[in-house]
Amino acid sequence: MAEAAIGGNPEHALKAGGSDVSTISAAAPAEVGLRFEVDGEIATVTLDRPDKRNAQTFATWSALARIGETLPEQVRVVVVKGEGPSFSAGIDLRMFTPEGVPGQGSFASAAALGDAEFEQLIAEAQKGFLWLRRPEIVSIAAVQGHAIGAGFQLALACDLRVVADDVKFCMKEPALGLVPDLTGTKPLADIVGVPRAIEICLTARTVGAAEAVRLGLAEIAVPASELSQAVQDLAAALLATDRAAAAATKRLLQAAPGRTLEEQAAAERAEQIQRVRALFGQR
Ligand code: ACO
Repeated sequence: MAEAAIGGNPEHALKAGGSDVSTISAAAPAEVGLRFEVDGEIATVTLDRPDKRNAQTFATWSALARIGETLPEQVRVVVVKGEGPSFSAGIDLRMFTPEGVPGQGSFASAAALGDAEFEQLIAEAQKGFLWLRRPEIVSIAAVQGHAIGAGFQLALACDLRVVADDVKFCMKEPALGLVPDLTGTKPLADIVGVPRAIEICLTARTVGAAEAVRLGLAEIAVPASELSQAVQDLAAALLATDRAAAAATKRLLQAAPGRTLEEQAAAERAEQIQRVRALFGQR
C-alpha cells in the first residue's frame, strides 16, 4: 500500500501508487488534516485531525480537490473515512472568529471579497467534493459519530454511505446563519425528498443510524467495530463487476432523474451498443 500524509512538510511532493498525488504548497499542515492511501484499485482518503474531530478548512478542500485531479487511473473505489470518534465536526469553527484559520482567513475576511472572487473561493472548495461523483469510480463514505455541516456534506458527496450505529448526521449551517454550499443540498434533496430535506436542514436536528437507513441516507448501518469490514466487503463486491460496465451503468443511473423515459431508453441503447461491441465485436 502506498501512503501519503497530506500535510507534513509543505515542500514535499507526496507519492502514492507510484505517481505524484499531491503537492500542498501553502497550507499549514494541521489544517489540511488528510491522509491518502492507494491499495490496488481502492483509494482511501482519511480525515486525520481526530483531536479536532476532523474539522475541515479550505486547505482540506484544496487537498481533496488535488487528490481528485491526480487520482491514479487504476482506482475504482474511493473510501472516505474519519479518524477517531467522529467522521467530521464540520468546518473549523475558527472561521467564525475575527482571527480565522492561520493562513486561510475567516468568514469576516471572505465577506470583504468582491462577488467574483468570493464565488471563486466557494467554487474551489466545492471542487474537493464534486469529483467523488465521477462515473469511473464509486465513492463510499464510512461514517461514525458526528457528521456535522461540512462533514455531512462530505458524506453526501459520496455515492454510498456505510454508517456505524452511533452516527449523527446534522446539517448545522442554517442554524449558524449559513447555507450548506459544499454540494450537499442536491444529494440530500434527491435522496430524502425536498420536504424532509427542509425539515432536516432548517431544524438542524440529528439523524441517527436507523433513520438514516430508512431515509436512504445510508446503505447499511453496522456496529462501530464492524464499520471497516462492512466497507471492505462492499468495495470487494463493487470491484467484482466489470469496470467499463460499472462506469456506463453509473453514467446511466446518474442521468436518469433528469431525463424522460424515452431519453433514458435512448441513452441505454447508446451505452449498450458500446458494451456489446466491446465484448463481442470484431477487432
Ligand atoms: N472546529 C474546530 N474545532 C473543533 C470543531 C470544529 N468544527 N469541532 C470540535 N472541535 C474541537 C474542540 O474545540 C475540541 O478542541 P480542544 O480539545 O482543543 O478543546 C476538540 O475538537 C474536541 O471537541 P469536543 O467538543 O470536546 O468533542 P465531543 O466529542 O465532546 O463533541 C462535537 C463533538 C459534538 C462534534 C462538538 O465538538 C461540536 O459540536 N463541534 C462543533 C460542530 C459545528 O458546529 N460545526 C460547524 C458546522 S457548520 C459547517 O460545517 C459549515
